[in-house]
Amino acid sequence: MIVTSALPYANGSIHLGHMVEHIQTDIWVRHQRMSGHTVHYICADDTHGTPVMLAANQLGITPEQMIDKARQEHMKDFTGFLIDHDLYYSTHTPETEAYAKSIYVTLRDKGLIDVKSIEQLYDPQKEMFLPDRFIKGECPRCHAKDQYGDNCEVCGASYSPTELINPVSAVSGTTPVKKTSEHYFFKLKECESFLKEWTHSGTIPAEAANKLDEWFKSGLTDWDISRDKPYFGFEIPDAPGKYFYVWLDAPIGYIGTFKKLADTKGLPFEEYWKSDAQTELYHFIGKDILYFHSLFWPAMLHAANLRTPTQLFVHGFLTVNGQKMSKSRGSFITAQSYLKHLNPEFLRYYFAAKMNSSMDDIDLNLDDFMNRVNSDLVGKFINIASRTSGFVTKRFDGKLATSFDAEALPIIERFYKDAAIIKSLYDEREFAKAIREIMALADLANQYVDQQKPWELAKDEARSQQLHMVCTSCLEMFRCLSIYLKPVLPKLIQQVETFLKLSPLSWKHLDKKFAINASEILPYHHLIGRVDIKQIEQLLSDSKNNLSDKKNQENHFAPLAETIGIDDFTKIDLRVAKIIDAVSIPEADKLLKLTLDLGFEQRTVFAGIKSQYQAEQLIGRLTVMVANLSPRKMRFGESQGMVLAAGDGNGIYLLSPDSGAKPGMRIK
Ligand code: 2FM
Ligand code: ZN
Repeated sequence: MIVTSALPYANGSIHLGHMVEHIQTDIWVRHQRMSGHTVHYICADDTHGTPVMLAANQLGITPEQMIDKARQEHMKDFTGFLIDHDLYYSTHTPETEAYAKSIYVTLRDKGLIDVKSIEQLYDPQKEMFLPDRFIKGECPRCHAKDQYGDNCEVCGASYSPTELINPVSAVSGTTPVKKTSEHYFFKLKECESFLKEWTHSGTIPAEAANKLDEWFKSGLTDWDISRDKPYFGFEIPDAPGKYFYVWLDAPIGYIGTFKKLADTKGLPFEEYWKSDAQTELYHFIGKDILYFHSLFWPAMLHAANLRTPTQLFVHGFLTVNGQKMSKSRGSFITAQSYLKHLNPEFLRYYFAAKMNSSMDDIDLNLDDFMNRVNSDLVGKFINIASRTSGFVTKRFDGKLATSFDAEALPIIERFYKDAAIIKSLYDEREFAKAIREIMALADLANQYVDQQKPWELAKDEARSQQLHMVCTSCLEMFRCLSIYLKPVLPKLIQQVETFLKLSPLSWKHLDKKFAINASEILPYHHLIGRVDIKQIEQLLSDSKNNLSDKKNQENHFAPLAETIGIDDFTKIDLRVAKIIDAVSIPEADKLLKLTLDLGFEQRTVFAGIKSQYQAEQLIGRLTVMVANLSPRKMRFGESQGMVLAAGDGNGIYLLSPDSGAKPGMRIK
C-alpha cells in the first residue's frame, strides 16, 4: 500500500498541528508493517505558489534555494518525531512536473479544459495579479478596515476582492487595478456522476460524505487551474506565461514522489497507479483540505485513467489548552521548539491517547499531557520493568525462570487474547480506545505486582523460586505491553528490545511460543524520565519569544498612513471604557460582544478579538474606545463604536490606560 500525509507548504515551519497528522499516519503505518504488510509511506514539501515566490524575493534568494532550505528543516523535524517516511521529497521535481503535464494534456485532449477570460486585481507596480490574501481593504459590508481580499475577519462576510473598498496591494502598497486575462479551467461538472458514486463508496468518512452532498446540491463549478506569470510553478503546455495553480500539482506530488521512490527501490510503478491497480492508496488529510482531495483529486485521476484513492482518512484540527494555536499566547508550538524541551514520544503517546477516526478536533492540554505521560508511561508501563527486573539481575544473574507463576498464567493469557481487539482498534484508527485497552492491561500487571510483593519475597531465601517466577511473569506482561505500544513508541520499545535481548517485536510475537521465559535480560537502565512542569513552562516561553521571524517583522512595520493635522485627530473622540460584559458570538470566528461602560452611558461593541481573548478574562478591565464612531449594523446587532488594539496579523493587543483612569475620561 501507498500511504501519504498531506504535503506541508514549503513557506512555513512544521508545527504541532502538522504533527497530529504525521503522528497519526506514522502510528498506522507502523501498525500495518508490524502486521506484515508492505507499506510505502511518502510525503513531500508543497513548494509552488505566490507566497513562496514573494518570500524568496524578500529574502533575496531564489525560490529553489528557499524550498531546499525548508525541506532540510522539515525533514529534520519529522525525523525528530520518529516519522518513518520512506521518502520525503518535493513537488518541484522533474517527476511531478512530468505527471502534472501529462495528466493535464490527457484532460485537455478529452475536452475537459475550458479557457475563459476573468477579471482580477492586478498590481501595476509589481506587474502581477494579486491572490486574495495579498490584497487588503475595507469590508464592503461592515466597513471594517484592513481586511483580506476574500473575507472579513470582523463580520465574517465572504466577497470577491474586486468588491473591497479602497483595495491596497500588500506586495507594493499601491492601489491595484482591474485587469482581465485568460484562465484555464477544469470542467469538474462533467465528472459529477463519477464523483457522486465515488464519494459514496466507502472512500471517505460518512460525516464528510454528507458535507459533499451539500456541495453537490449547490452545484459543482469549474475549477480555475491556471495562474499568470510571474508565478513559481510549472508552465502549462502550449500556454506560454500560464502556470499550473499550486493545488493542481500538489496532489500530483504524491505520484511524483512515489515515482522517485519506485525508481530508487525498483518497485513496479504501474502496479500502483494504473486504473485497475490491486494495490491500495490511503491519504491522511485534515478536514480543511477535504474539498481538494474528495473532488478535484479523484476527478483528475479518474479522467486521466489512473487509479483513485482507496480511502481518505480525515482528521480535525489541533487546539492547545482549548484554543486555536496562537503566537502571542505562546501556544503556537513549532516542532523544533517542542523537540528542544520534550521527548517526542511523549507527544506521540498523548496524541494517540486522544485520537480516533472522527473529524473532531483534538486538544493538547498541557497539564493533562504532563499527568497522562507521567502516570501512564512512567507510573504504569515502565514501572513494571523497573520494579521487577532488578531482582532478576541481582539474584538470578540476569536469567529468567523457565516457567511462569501459576497465578500469573490467566493474566498472561488475557494479555495474548486481547491482541485481536487491540490490533483491530489500530486498524480502524481508534487509537484512544487501543490505548485504553493497553493501559487496562498495564493496571492488571501492576495489581499483580502489588499482590505478589516481590520486594517481600526477596527477603525470604526459601521463596526465591517464587520470586524468580513472579518477576519473569511480570516481564512477560511487560513484553506484551511493549508490542502493543510499539507503533506509538518505536524508539522506547527498541530500547526495551535491547534490554530484554529480543529481536524486533511485531504482532506475531503475542503468542506463548515467543514467551520470555528461559532467556535472559540485561541490567535495567533508566528508560524514560518524568515530564517536569518546568519543561512545559520553558516550551511556552520559548514559543512566545519565537515571534521574530521575517514575516512578523514585516507586519510590525506596516507603512505609515498619510500625514494628518491636529484637527483631523481631534475629530476622533477617544474615551476610557470599562468592559462590564463580554460574550463570545458562536457563529463568528473572531467576534466578542462587549458591553462598555463610559460612566455616563453604556455601549455595545462587536470586536474581532476572539482569537486572542477569552470573554470572561476581559470583564472588569479598562480599555480605550472610539466613542463618536457612527453606529453600524452587523449581522449580530448594532456596533456602537470600536475598541482600540495593536496588531500585526498574528497577535492582537488591547490597549488599556494607566491605573487611575476612570471610565468616560477623554483621551487627548
Ligand atoms: O494544506 C496544505 O498544507 C497543503 N500544502 C496540502 C497539500 S496536500 C496534497 F494535495 F499535496
Ligand atoms: Zn466586514
